[in-house]
Amino acid sequence: MGFLGSKSSLLAFHLGLIAGFVSTFYLMGNLTWEGPPRLGTQLPRGYKDPEWIVDRSALFSVAHPHLEGEESSMADELYDKVRILCWVMTGPSNLETKARHVKATWSRHCNVVLFMSSVQDDNFPTVGLGTKEGRDQLYWKTIRAFQYVHQHHLEQADWFLKADDDTFVVVDNLRWLLSNYTADRPIYFGKRFRPFAKQGYMSGGAGYVLSKEALRRFVAGFESKVCSHTTSVEDLALGQCMEKMGVEAGDSRDTEGRETFHPFVPESHLTEKFSKSFWYWNYCYYPIVEGPQCCSDLAVSFHYVSSELMYTLEYLCYHLRAYGYRYRYHPPLPENAAHLQPRPRGEAPERTNSTTLQTEKKV
Ligand SMILES: *[C@@H]1O[C@H](CO)[C@@H](O)[C@H](O)[C@H]1NC(C)=O
Ligand SMILES: *[C@@H]1O[C@H](CO)[C@@H](O)[C@H](O)[C@H]1NC(C)=O
Repeated sequence: MGFLGSKSSLLAFHLGLIAGFVSTFYLMGNLTWEGPPRLGTQLPRGYKDPEWIVDRSALFSVAHPHLEGEESSMADELYDKVRILCWVMTGPSNLETKARHVKATWSRHCNVVLFMSSVQDDNFPTVGLGTKEGRDQLYWKTIRAFQYVHQHHLEQADWFLKADDDTFVVVDNLRWLLSNYTADRPIYFGKRFRPFAKQGYMSGGAGYVLSKEALRRFVAGFESKVCSHTTSVEDLALGQCMEKMGVEAGDSRDTEGRETFHPFVPESHLTEKFSKSFWYWNYCYYPIVEGPQCCSDLAVSFHYVSSELMYTLEYLCYHLRAYGYRYRYHPPLPENAAHLQPRPRGEAPERTNSTTLQTEKKV
């Protein structure tokens, strides 16, 4: 590898580590991050050149990537039977710094990925929603995005996930959770907050996922004017519309009662003591657990994830393994998953990869 022309030995040492890391991936033969990531301004200490990861243009992103040789039949089956469209809320100034890293990491595990922005971009596959930018536009963007998805992509998925460009989602774990439900049930899942709605609402940052029926009702709510743009507080407003439209707020905790959607980075949930006056205590629908029991072994999402952490989490989820264990944690499918019948051959959805994003029309 020709990039070891460093001046200081410390830098050489760090680069050596990286080289080892990278060549290990090469030996595994299946590193599928798309191109060299540009990590913006917060590079790990010691790295001067943001292009330190070798150009591997030959290893373009593929749909549903995982380690070669790893037994993945269950994940493969769920990929076909629990189809998830992911749309990522972003904006023109975040495409290079944030959306790009979402595209290169977790979103590859979705069946369809759409990046929603106010305007289209020539250099990044985005849907231009024709809205303005800014915090006060968030709910408009969400409304337009779900309308767009409903109009153009309804038949390509069963579940419709909204995530921010600093959310990390373990899409395969989300499939496990959703396999317990049919998409014709009006239900949605996320990190459940308590106030301002009888059944609570789902926090925006941790992402939330609507069944196909929930999506239909959300769109119908605006057509019939049962719902309207009452507030720019996107997650709360959506939750109130859901409640009016008879869409159930689902319980996304796992069979051990541990949460799967998380509004902060893993480190916060695992190691922090939240201050007694922290607003969070009054917002969480379920009792807060700090420390190791905070988070499901089949965790679905984390929020406030930096670009660097995106790659770290992708590595921890899909590459790092403790040696010597035959099986990974493999709970059975949830009790209601029996409805999952094999799809007749030929009906399987075409696997969309993130280079074939839809950018066709403005709404
Ligand atoms: C599956 O759904 C049932 C309710 O229909 C619920 O009681 C159970 O906890 C769910 N299991 C999982 C793993 O979500
Ligand atoms: C995936 O992307 C590549 C470009 O990198 C393209 O050639 C290929 O046709 C795409 N596959 C599908 C299934 O769209």
